[in-house]
Amino acid sequence: MLSLMTTLGGLGSHLGGWRHPRAWTGTAMNLDQQIELARIAERGLFDLLFLADGNAVRQMDKPALFEAVSFSDRPTGFEPVTLMAALAQHTSRIGLLATATTTYEQPWTLARKFASLDHLSGGRACWNIVTSSYPGDSRNFGREDHVPRGERYARASEFVEVCKGLWDSWAPDAFPEDKDSGRYLRADRVRTLDHHGVHFDVAGPLNVARMPQGYPVLFHAGQSEPGRELAARHADCVFSVSGDIKVGRDFATDMRQRAVRHGRAASDIRIYPGATAYVAQSMAEADELFEELQSLISPSVGVPYLSKLVEEDLSGYPVDGPLPDLSGEVSGLSSFRTTIAAMAERDGLTIRETYERVLPTMGHVLFKGTATDVADQMQEWHDSGAADGFLLSAPALPFGLESIVDLLVPELQRRGLYRTAYTGSTLRENLGLPIPRNPHFDLALSGTEQS
Ligand SMILES: Cc1cc2nc3c(=O)[nH]c(=O)nc-3n(C[C@H](O)[C@H](O)[C@H](O)COP(=O)(O)O)c2cc1C
Repeated sequence: MLSLMTTLGGLGSHLGGWRHPRAWTGTAMNLDQQIELARIAERGLFDLLFLADGNAVRQMDKPALFEAVSFSDRPTGFEPVTLMAALAQHTSRIGLLATATTTYEQPWTLARKFASLDHLSGGRACWNIVTSSYPGDSRNFGREDHVPRGERYARASEFVEVCKGLWDSWAPDAFPEDKDSGRYLRADRVRTLDHHGVHFDVAGPLNVARMPQGYPVLFHAGQSEPGRELAARHADCVFSVSGDIKVGRDFATDMRQRAVRHGRAASDIRIYPGATAYVAQSMAEADELFEELQSLISPSVGVPYLSKLVEEDLSGYPVDGPLPDLSGEVSGLSSFRTTIAAMAERDGLTIRETYERVLPTMGHVLFKGTATDVADQMQEWHDSGAADGFLLSAPALPFGLESIVDLLVPELQRRGLYRTAYTGSTLRENLGLPIPRNPHFDLALSGTEQS
């Protein structure tokens, strides 16, 4: 079965999406509209709503980009866990994927927030573990420079271990609240952590009871060597940045092999390529929307935006010449840099041709056409092992998401590729993931947990 998730936020995934006459305005900070998007996605039986995040207003040093506003720049928006807690009260089944950074947060506060979100949502919390891709975030945390990648991932690894330790603080039956005997809690069903590591010293226990899912579902998007290793050890699901199906399959195979090397099953890790879907009643209609949105991108932002995505200033190179060598390491978004460079080299693209191809999807896959056309492409990715699901973004909102739900979802269901109803109440149940067992308390007493 394919799993679908979509992006909240409100700008649409196309750089010109927010300018479309039928696109909503003000969505980034409008709770009613976020609720409406969540309800559309839940009507489409999506597994997850996703909100990306950073800790800075980006591109202030690049005026053209700052004014152009893409969804990946999110100059203002809701803090993700806060928004998801609000959406939990207006939805009942869809999972809530909030981004939070291990580079600038503390494990104690974050473990608490996600445990609370899981309780508030009846077991639908999901954490996008990031190490902060935007270098400028550091300046809001007292650092002039971005923390180097190796250090970020070392901290991330210890951070996740500490969170898991805190989430294991309480047995599920720790609170009998027996009015007759006067026993509120069982002191033998809680455990301190006493973690003393390189980056953190955390005593524990957590002051939130064992959450319905045991741990939130863990997502990760890192594509570098340490990023993949972190995902292989801890993540239930990973984003893939794969310009084409072969790259996607290679990434998926690599991640599944890494999971096995960490003592997990290959199927324990789910792969979600990012894609933008233009779904319409006819190919001509889909093309028309695509061209209309393309015309809303100012030509002056093409080179700066591509420069941003590949983390290299391309302004000094001829726009109708090839990209320079991009094999050098960068501290931020290495995944887009590598994928875009490989695509440009493979197809012999100039800088102009590269940005024309990349900007409509911001480096992700493009699916365009009727529901049948788009379902064919998605099925090919799924059947080839490149995708267990998709981060399926709509180019403009809300109508792009409505087309996905009203046209594409029935076609996927007709093919038996997609659920016709939610089968569980927690996100883990809907994804077919087990509830992690709490290693400190015996299973006989802890009821619902599985090994
Ligand atoms: C679909 C997707 C969503 C992402 N969301 C965020 C985000 O919300 N915040 C963030 O700091 N980084 C985000 N990233 C960046 C990744 O966390 C990661 O830093 C990036 O892919 C580079 O990989 P590396 O960290 O292994 O070099 C995202 C990446 C992808 C592909």
